[in-house]
Amino acid sequence: MTRIFSGIQPTGVAHIGNYLGAIRNWVAMQDGNEPVYCLVDLHALTVWVNPVELRDQTRLNAALLLACGIDPRHSILFHQSAVHAHVRLAWIFNCVARFGWLSRMTQFKDKAGKDRENVSTGLFVYPNLMAADILAYHATEVPVGEDQRQHIELANDISLKFNHDYGVDFFPQIFPRVAKSTARIMSLRDGARKMSKSDLSDQSRINLTDDADTIAQKIRRAKTDSEPIPDCAGSLDNRPEARNLIGIYAALSGVSTDDVLREHSGKGFSAFKEILTDILVDRIVPIGDAAKRYAADPIEIDRILHAGAGRAATIAEPIVSEAERIVGLLSS
Ligand code: TYM
Repeated sequence: MTRIFSGIQPTGVAHIGNYLGAIRNWVAMQDGNEPVYCLVDLHALTVWVNPVELRDQTRLNAALLLACGIDPRHSILFHQSAVHAHVRLAWIFNCVARFGWLSRMTQFKDKAGKDRENVSTGLFVYPNLMAADILAYHATEVPVGEDQRQHIELANDISLKFNHDYGVDFFPQIFPRVAKSTARIMSLRDGARKMSKSDLSDQSRINLTDDADTIAQKIRRAKTDSEPIPDCAGSLDNRPEARNLIGIYAALSGVSTDDVLREHSGKGFSAFKEILTDILVDRIVPIGDAAKRYAADPIEIDRILHAGAGRAATIAEPIVSEAERIVGLLSS
């Protein structure tokens, strides 16, 4: 069985970018594999986050994962801070990864922007913790969106350098599993930017908790152009907003972009937005409703997360203890 690891930051609310780019694959990959899924609350601390909101949102995003179909009887679902092996291994990786490698991370450059001097050092070493998340389980497959691919490449560089520096064959190679057509769902307000929890405008994304009216209103206001829907995908090349809405529709209805174009070519976007709203309401509102039912019982959510953490620790503890032994630490 293949061990899978993936994570989501519990800041804000998971949106359809997270769902189509990652969570849907997490659900699909549960069968026949050994899945470990994590609410990465320690990663969330790399930028300022209100402590009360962080706790609430960790539970809410856990409820959303359950509502999307993560089955805690099978998948291990837990919050990162509950398994101390992650930070122990991350420190070792802070000492393996090179400053230059981390300086080249595009996500760090984007998030730090011109304010590099003032961002937390946690934001800079964030990819080392991410590598530790995966390698603490010797996981080999990681279902993620396109934006995480560079971080996984870095995790592989860390894995190789550790093995090389200590003359061992201990950490495995990791394979990112990126869903091709939904690897990058874009903002509803700007087709050049990815849909993101941290975008200041809530109009830029469809949250998995949005109700039917909110979805309809956001799609009505979504940016498009005045051209009708073309009959071939090549004609969407310079129309990022149009391509995004068509891609979302194709992903939710389970057909290819070409099929969507064949069926709807010639239509204006006001008509297409109505059918897009219908499918979003049909697929997303039930997730939000189910999440509300799970979230109504925070004690049960905590029980699931703590049980998951116990199972996660059983796997990660011996692996990280062995890594500590390899680098020369006395056993704890
Ligand atoms: P996060 O919380 O930003 O996103 C969770 C997952 O959703 C994917 N995603 C998207 N996919 C398509 N279109 C989008 N607009 C979009 N936005 C987000 C992300 O690629 C991700 O798969 N660093 C990670 C969390 C993490 C992690 C890990 C992931 C920590 N440790 C170990 C994998 C393995 C992050 O911030 O994801």
